[in-house]
Amino acid sequence: MKFFAVLALCVVGAIAAPLSADQAATVRSSWAGVKHNEVDILHAVFKDHPDIQARFPQFAGKDLESLVDTAAFATHAGRIVGFISEIVALVGNEANAPAMATLVNELAASHHNRGISKAQFNEFRASLVTYLSSHASWNDATAAAWTAGLDNIFGMIFAHL
Ligand code: HEM
Repeated sequence: MKFFAVLALCVVGAIAAPLSADQAATVRSSWAGVKHNEVDILHAVFKDHPDIQARFPQFAGKDLESLVDTAAFATHAGRIVGFISEIVALVGNEANAPAMATLVNELAASHHNRGISKAQFNEFRASLVTYLSSHASWNDATAAAWTAGLDNIFGMIFAHL
């Protein structure tokens, strides 16, 4: 019993392992290079995964290339990418953990209510990482830092979905 309690703590600890200062700096500097590409990032996600586009009542069934120039598209792109910017600003400081948990839990709850699946969140993640790896300064250390950070955030989101 004791063994399982310790194992459970280790697993939770592994999921919630905070980024090191170096990893946080790496995530922040790579994100700085793309964080203003809001429309381009959402375009990449929708292009890779039309099933994600289809979940937005205002975008479903519309031609993606015509949508990208609309104000509605820019607004939503700004919300999603802005959310990532908020999280990136908070990483690397343990004191920010409660604020980060509040933001992530709210996002997870609102998307759980919309019926968004883990599979779709993973699709989103894959597109985001592909985008970063081709548009941000990127190497093995950058990839590892993003993997660690995204594992933490998605672990928290998946507790709700
Ligand atoms: C992966 C599949 C996802 C789907 C299908 C999805 C779908 C939606 C939908 C339908 C809305 C409501 C749009 C509206 O009110 O017009 C929304 C809102 C929002 N989404 Fe997502 N979303 C996904 C992932 C994400 C991710 C990964 C993020 C952040 C990185 C995000 C951030 C937001 C934000 C900030 C809002 C507005 C606030 C809110 O309603 O919670 N979404 N999403």
